[in-house]
Amino acid sequence: MDAIRIYGGKRLSGQTTIQGSKNASLPILAATLLISGTCEIENCPDISDVYHMQRLLTSLGCKVEREGALVRVNTESLSECDMPSDSVGVMRSSIMLLGALLARTGYVCMENPGGCVIGARPIDLHLRMLRKMGVVIEETGTGFCAEAARLKGTVLQMPFVSVGVTENLILAAVLAQGETVIEPAAREPEIQALCEFLTGAGARIEGSGTDRLVIHGVEKLNPVRYRIPADRIVAGTYLCACMCTGGRVFLRDAPVHHMESVLETAALMGAAIEYDPEGIMVTGREHESTCHSITTGCYPAFPTDMQSPFMVVMAMSGHDGRIEETVFENRFRIVPELRKMGAGITVQGSTAYIDGNSRLHGAIVQAEELRGGAALVVAALAAEGTCIVTNRHYIDRGYEDIVLSLRDLGADIELA
Ligand code: UD1
Repeated sequence: MDAIRIYGGKRLSGQTTIQGSKNASLPILAATLLISGTCEIENCPDISDVYHMQRLLTSLGCKVEREGALVRVNTESLSECDMPSDSVGVMRSSIMLLGALLARTGYVCMENPGGCVIGARPIDLHLRMLRKMGVVIEETGTGFCAEAARLKGTVLQMPFVSVGVTENLILAAVLAQGETVIEPAAREPEIQALCEFLTGAGARIEGSGTDRLVIHGVEKLNPVRYRIPADRIVAGTYLCACMCTGGRVFLRDAPVHHMESVLETAALMGAAIEYDPEGIMVTGREHESTCHSITTGCYPAFPTDMQSPFMVVMAMSGHDGRIEETVFENRFRIVPELRKMGAGITVQGSTAYIDGNSRLHGAIVQAEELRGGAALVVAALAAEGTCIVTNRHYIDRGYEDIVLSLRDLGADIELA
């Protein structure tokens, strides 16, 4: 029952509403730890990563309730500083609790975090930068204990841009003593959402959305209600599904202002995009593709999380192309699975070369990580014959009921 069966070849049509963003929800849920009282998070996606974050907060003594898409977190009875290793082990974002818990309680012990196997994904930079803020960290081999009476603001010069480290340092800095400068900071929209949430709670953050953040520590933050923005990666995944099947789909609430590089690429690859105040209408194959090369990068460049779904689009675009991955060193795990479906793809180092006239057919394929798993579903929708995508749990980490959403759009798809 951990699989999805797809009978390919149906054009998608209709409309789907884009869920709240996973990558915004997780650090914002972690940020509630900084605030005594009840925070209300609206539009919180019902996905397994959020479930694990809720579970981690509960295990720390918080009261967490979900009512539809609204999640309430009351941190008044926060008691524990040791986190359950099973939830920490499945989700890389558990590292986000480190900055927040240190700021609130001054002490944390945890196992090293898990998450998708898309590269080495160490946490060395998290620890190195927190040490600069006065945190004493003892590594145990499988995890670590960290301690700081009060975090101290300082200038944090980052050797490279990291989304997770930027978020962790923001969480550590908002209640720290004095001023913290993070440079270069990541500029992802999810970081802007975190800054908005914290500013609403009384934090003083300058430079949100730029590569230099200046955070003036405050004594206290106040409970706040915040609406999570729509998920740009989920919107992009449905966009790819529409392109591959030659369909026409309205993506309600798609966060277009944060999807520029993806929408530009989709338009070059043959999609027609009509903008509406409530979302975008995508028509799959409007014209010939003129895009032969994609390079991933930090926001606002083309997102690494969209690389696998676009690999499928490129394989069906009618023109050969290449995709260069610059963020994670192991993000082509989908390639052998796509080859089982008939895709002509070869990998040399960090570049994948794609035969744009691949004819995809039915196969049993295995999801090995979240976005690659979703991309296999996209490929299966466009393949001739029946595909089974196993390891559905990876996809459930980030997509709210993908089977039902795609069925509503006309796909022939079921749990298997
Ligand atoms: C976040 C996103 C993920 C996205 C990625 C890049 C969340 C929950 N996840 O992941 O969906 O694909 O940004 O946009 O928001 N690195 C180190 N040492 C560290 C930390 C990171 O070497 O201590 C490396 C990583 O291995 C990677 C690079 O830095 O090669 C960038 O990773 P990072 O931006 O930190 O990604 P995540 O925050 O894990």
